[in-house]
Amino acid sequence: MINGKLKIALAGLGFGGAFAEIYKCHPRVGEILVFDPDRAKEKWFRDNLGIEAGYLSFEDILSDASVDAVHLVTPIPLHGKQSVAVLDSGKHCACTVPMGVTLEELRLITEAKRKSGKNYMMMETTLYTYQFMYVQKMLASGELGRIQFMKGTHYQDMENWPHYWDGLPPMHYGTHAIAPMVALSGSRIARVHAFGSGTMREELVKNYGNPFPVETAIFAFENGLKGEATRSLFETARMYQEGMFVFGSKKSFEWGFTDASDPIVTTLQPRTDNRGCDNVMETVKMPNDYSDLPEELWRFTVGSNYDPLRPQESLKEGAGAGHHGSHSHLVNEFVMSIVEGRKPWIDEVLGANITAAGIWAHLSALRDGAEVTVPVF
Ligand SMILES: NC(=O)c1ccc[n+]([C@@H]2O[C@H](COP(=O)([O-])OP(=O)(O)OC[C@H]3O[C@@H](n4cnc5c(N)ncnc54)[C@H](O)[C@@H]3O)[C@@H](O)[C@H]2O)c1
Repeated sequence: MINGKLKIALAGLGFGGAFAEIYKCHPRVGEILVFDPDRAKEKWFRDNLGIEAGYLSFEDILSDASVDAVHLVTPIPLHGKQSVAVLDSGKHCACTVPMGVTLEELRLITEAKRKSGKNYMMMETTLYTYQFMYVQKMLASGELGRIQFMKGTHYQDMENWPHYWDGLPPMHYGTHAIAPMVALSGSRIARVHAFGSGTMREELVKNYGNPFPVETAIFAFENGLKGEATRSLFETARMYQEGMFVFGSKKSFEWGFTDASDPIVTTLQPRTDNRGCDNVMETVKMPNDYSDLPEELWRFTVGSNYDPLRPQESLKEGAGAGHHGSHSHLVNEFVMSIVEGRKPWIDEVLGANITAAGIWAHLSALRDGAEVTVPVF
């Protein structure tokens, strides 16, 4: 850190590219360098955003002692190894989801984090969406009442994405459906029962030995709550949605039909004749939540024409609301946790519970719904 400002390296410039300019504008970031083995992508950032590519290889980043932190937005199979390497090199590490694909990877990251004393943050977008922050406030103010049940969905056809996606077990990328439930529960997922459903073509099945295009799970939380998550990945016709549904004793919050639809809030309203309650339903516009961010990042929360298939679109002026405003909040939390010498909110413990619940859900699905206990990290 020089003059209270960080030097950050951003590795992986597909979806990762959406974060480059946000780091560049953050008042506590002195320098941002990008790295991608695909040199054409690096060139785009130099030519269009004036952000330099400082490295010839990923290992060069690790051996640069002037780098404070690395944000990984690389292919899923690399997350585990690269996160450990970043922490072992004495740098803070942020990594896109999922944290890893095996429990062993989660264990090694947790160990490396604790040995290094550096920060680890899983960059889960769903925990900083306008919708999530709205429900968080409803819960904190008492407006929602007690949480009675939660559901999460992630419907996204990922045909023709980079090859490592082909046939991926749906719950290995279940974090968007699972994370909001864990974060709102005030607890951790302790057990899971899950089933796989449907069939898909053989070439998809053979990659990971996963026969299921869709997986659905019931999670039992340590505090007694239950939640349900469904993830579809291939050969399933359904509009894209990363949805969150929270049923409270006073109010409920339900995601709209598509990812862009307005959510629905239902209020249990006592009747004037004292005979039970009426359900009153309204659609609500999400407030643009930026008050906690430095002013330089406000523009990245404005607008909403983010296209999940073209994440670079969120770099367009006035259209930086990537994943419902979450990108700038993620960057700010990672940066400020380092500057303030504290843990980030989505640390290795929360990140590992969310990810492990998905990995174990897939195991349960392979065992036709048998109960699996999620380990403590
Ligand atoms: N909402 C979300 O949180 C969200 C959304 C989309 C993608 N993701 C995650 O982001 C990651 C990247 O997704 P994507 O769609 O951009 O995938 P991608 O495979 O298109 O892009 C990954 C990039 O990493 C680069 N790369 C490959 N090896 C590398 C290495 N060793 N070091 C640095 N860079 C390397 C590739 O050249 C490519 O540009 C995935 O892990 C995915 O799970 C998360």
